[in-house]
Amino acid sequence: MTKTTQTKITIPYLWRKKEKKEKIVVLTAYDYPTAQIIDQAGVDIILVGDSLGMVVLGYPDTLPVTMEEMLHHTKAVTRAVKQALVVADMPYLSYHFSPEVGVANAARFIKEARADAVKIEGATPARLKLISFLQEAEIPVMGHVGLTPQSIRQLGEYRVQGKNISQAKRILQEALELERAGVFALVLESIPRELAQIITQKLSIPTIGIGAGPDCDGQVLVLHDMLGLTANISPKFVKKYLDGQHLFRQAIEQYVREVKDSQYPDENHSYHLNTHSSDQLIRELTTLIEEEEEN
Ligand code: KIV
Repeated sequence: MTKTTQTKITIPYLWRKKEKKEKIVVLTAYDYPTAQIIDQAGVDIILVGDSLGMVVLGYPDTLPVTMEEMLHHTKAVTRAVKQALVVADMPYLSYHFSPEVGVANAARFIKEARADAVKIEGATPARLKLISFLQEAEIPVMGHVGLTPQSIRQLGEYRVQGKNISQAKRILQEALELERAGVFALVLESIPRELAQIITQKLSIPTIGIGAGPDCDGQVLVLHDMLGLTANISPKFVKKYLDGQHLFRQAIEQYVREVKDSQYPDENHSYHLNTHSSDQLIRELTTLIEEEEEN
């Protein structure tokens, strides 16, 4: 199904896409101009990921990201988006302690930042309980299993999850429990293709893969990774659609050269008065300077 009119994408529309085996396209965004471009390009879901911390704010991982930072960037994104479903990532420790605090924080994304849904990582009993509270508050939730970056302190490193049988069984179990708890879609991050395929077949909600192979119902990438703007981080699954670092640097170096060499700004990038006004201005300013000098 192709969307021709600019109507807002809904969760039932995404469910129908899974039924019809049409891929769901997801990208992250963190600001107004890129969200506008992504929305106009026909992406189904824009995720304001807490990857914000690493690709925009320069943190070493996603753990320092705060509610205020996520709200600030989600607001910029929702101001730009007309069509895509906007999902806001709940940052580390904003939903871990009690369902009441989790719901109150999630509600800020919906009420203040105008997001359409929130995403939480993991499937512990407390998270499953939180999801049922969020359902009660009419807040749609996207789940996230496999490699969950907010668990980096426990995991020790960003590595593929579910490579042995017991891990794979646990991830499948988590996916099933999250579906039962009521998530509308599920991110599968950094797991073997075979496992992602089984989970995708088993669930009736859409799976959105990132480093999970080609059989998921949809795909998500971090915008800065696919545009080649992230220098150091390049997981195997990332395809660079642009060498952004190189192209940005080239353009900025040209600007530096042209300003230094007085090539920019030139005539074409300057404002002008018409000849009459210009002559008059020069006369009047000359008089003014002469008067100033006399006094
Ligand atoms: O924060 C993020 O960008 C994410 C995606 C990688 C799924 O959680």
